[in-house]
Amino acid sequence: MKILITGGTGFVGRELTSRLIQEGYEVTILTRSLKSTQKTEVGLSYLEGDPTEKGPWQEAIKNHDGVINLAGASIFSKWSEENKKAIRDSRVFTTRNIVEAIPQFKDKQFHLFSASAVGYYGFHGDEELSEESPPGGDFLAKVAAEWEAEAKKAQDRGARVVITRFGIVLGEKGGALSQMVPLFQKFIGGPIGSGRQWFSWVHIKDLSEAFIFLLKHPEITGPVNVCSPNPVRNRDLAKAIGRALNRPSFVPAPGFLVKLILGEFGSVILEGQKVIPKRLLEKGFTFKYPDINSALESILK
Ligand SMILES: NC(=O)c1ccc[n+]([C@@H]2O[C@H](COP(=O)([O-])OP(=O)(O)OC[C@H]3O[C@@H](n4cnc5c(N)ncnc54)[C@H](OP(=O)(O)O)[C@@H]3O)[C@@H](O)[C@H]2O)c1
Repeated sequence: MKILITGGTGFVGRELTSRLIQEGYEVTILTRSLKSTQKTEVGLSYLEGDPTEKGPWQEAIKNHDGVINLAGASIFSKWSEENKKAIRDSRVFTTRNIVEAIPQFKDKQFHLFSASAVGYYGFHGDEELSEESPPGGDFLAKVAAEWEAEAKKAQDRGARVVITRFGIVLGEKGGALSQMVPLFQKFIGGPIGSGRQWFSWVHIKDLSEAFIFLLKHPEITGPVNVCSPNPVRNRDLAKAIGRALNRPSFVPAPGFLVKLILGEFGSVILEGQKVIPKRLLEKGFTFKYPDINSALESILK
């Protein structure tokens, strides 16, 4: 099976590509800039193109059996109006251009796995959220809803569409942990704001395994929460990072300071949501790293 992946050079994409190749899939990474240093291996090829723009890269879609759509400008920054536009446009335009290029196949099922985030649900305090919960109304929730709506249009072309709503992805060399760990290493890590807000997370290896599972279960369509069954409160996350690094975890970051430094993005960290991977669990997916301590130990030790 041949899969084209957008965002395959990123934190999630690199790990997922390796796992797909190991499992025998052929993978083409669509990237905006080919580099001579990029990893080469049997089963992996690269294609240059900007997915936010229409172009010759779209032609390649018909030679694949599916697309995994991960591309998007990073959200880990203070959001200026310009950043917000890049966060939204990079996801919405990429997905629109992919869908536009999916042919109506008569002889095979085409698969579109399009990334989204648990931020889709917005902020809900202690309420437990599943795939059936409604979308939120903050900036990230609205972007996620628009991003998902573009992907769903591929159904009109006969494609199977799966929307993978990721929790915060924890892994080595990138993602949220690369922002948090340095603070703990400098002995200034601890809870953020009240520390009571929920943090829905997933180990990067479980995320990759979830994709293999979804590829092998073509009956699953629609939204799928890809997050651990055990979300934690922010203060428990801080304790778990401190424990795994053998560093203190009690230096609090006051909410007003987080807002001052990070602006609107600060709300995402100060509020959060408690999300459960209801559909994956119902379908029998087993998490290798279901609890935060074992996950962080495997990554940080
Ligand atoms: N990491 C998380 O905790 C998390 C949580 C929830 C959802 N997600 C979603 O999962 C996806 C992958 O996340 P990630 O952490 O792997 O992201 P990442 O490391 O930032 O990689 C994203 C990839 O997207 C491409 N990209 C970056 N800016 C772009 C732009 N302006 N226009 C078009 N393409 C652009 C880049 O590929 P090229 O430079 O090769 O083109 C990059 O490698 C993202 O869409 C993200 O929103 C991630």
